[in-house]
Amino acid sequence: MAHAHRDQHSPTHPHDGSAHHAHDSGAIPDGLPEILDLDAALFAPHLTALTGRVACLAGDDVRHIVDLGAGTGTGTFALLEQFPAARVTAVDSSPAMLEHIVTVARERGLGDRVRTLEADAGAGLPGVTDADLVWASASLHHLDDPATALAGIRAALRPGGLLAVAEVDGMPTFLPEDGESGALEARCRTALDGLHAERLPHRGADWGALLTAAGLPVEQERAERWELRAPLPEGAGRYAYLVFERVRGSLEGRVGPEDLAALDRLVDGGPEDVRHRGDLVVRSTRETWMARRPA
Ligand SMILES: C[S@@+](CC[C@H](N)C(=O)[O-])C[C@H]1O[C@@H](n2cnc3c(N)ncnc32)[C@H](O)[C@@H]1O
Repeated sequence: MAHAHRDQHSPTHPHDGSAHHAHDSGAIPDGLPEILDLDAALFAPHLTALTGRVACLAGDDVRHIVDLGAGTGTGTFALLEQFPAARVTAVDSSPAMLEHIVTVARERGLGDRVRTLEADAGAGLPGVTDADLVWASASLHHLDDPATALAGIRAALRPGGLLAVAEVDGMPTFLPEDGESGALEARCRTALDGLHAERLPHRGADWGALLTAAGLPVEQERAERWELRAPLPEGAGRYAYLVFERVRGSLEGRVGPEDLAALDRLVDGGPEDVRHRGDLVVRSTRETWMARRPA
C-alpha cells in the first residue's frame, strides 16, 4: 500500500516549467498535469530510450529510486517499468501532485512500490540515504539554491549511486519552422526565456559544472532533439493547444499585440487552431546529465 509522508513545507516558487506566477498553496497550476502526462505519452519511445540509458549506467542492482519533483509521476512509472525490482520514492512540494501519483499507482496495481514524500527538495531529502538512483526531470531548475539542493541529493544517494538529470531547453515548438509561424514561435521562446530569467533563474544553468562542483562527477552529458512528425500520435494537437494557451497567458505585455492575436488564433477554434491542423511538428530538446556519487 502506498503511503505518504507529510511535512509542513509551504512551497514558495512556481511549480511548472512554464511561466506562471509563484504558487504558495501547493495547488497544481492549471493545465500542468495534462501537459506533463501528454508529454510523456507522446514521447514515450524517447522516454523509454532515456530510462534504458539510465539503466545501463545504474546497473542491475537498483532497489530504491527517488523521483525528485515527480509531478504527475511520468518518471516514477517509466522507472518502475524499467527497473522491475525497484521501489520509487516520489518527492514533490505539491501535495496534490503526490495524491495524484498515489491514485494512479493504486489503479495500476503498483501501490506497494511507490511511496511519496512531500518536501522542498531544495533543502534535502529527509530520511533518504540509500537511493541507488535519483531521477530529476524538469525539476532541478525550480530549486532555490542549486548547491544546497545538490548536496542534499548527494547525501540521499548511496556511494556509487547515480543521479540522472533531464532539463528541457525551453518551450516545445509545433509550427512550420520557415516563414512567419516559425518566427512567431522564436519570439515567444525569447520572451519566455526573459520571463524565466526573472522567475526561475536556474533554468538553463550549467548543470554539468554544478554537478561536478557538488562532488557528483558527470559521466555522460547529451542534448537530444525529440521530434514527432505526421502522422502525429493522438493527443499531439491537444498538447500544442495546452502549451499555446499557457504561453498566451504568460506573454501579455511581453510580445506585441500582433503576436498575441496570432497566438489567439492558434487556440480559438478557428481555421488556424492547432487542434485540427495537419502541419504540426512537435519538437523539444532534452538535455541530460548522468552523474555519480563516488564509491
Ligand atoms: C515541470 S514539473 C516536472 C514533473 C516531472 N518530473 C516530469 O518530468 O514530468 C516540476 C515539478 O517539480 C515540483 N517542484 C517545484 N519546486 C519543488 C521543490 N522545491 N521541491 C520539490 N518539488 C518541487 C513541482 O511541484 C512539479 O511537480
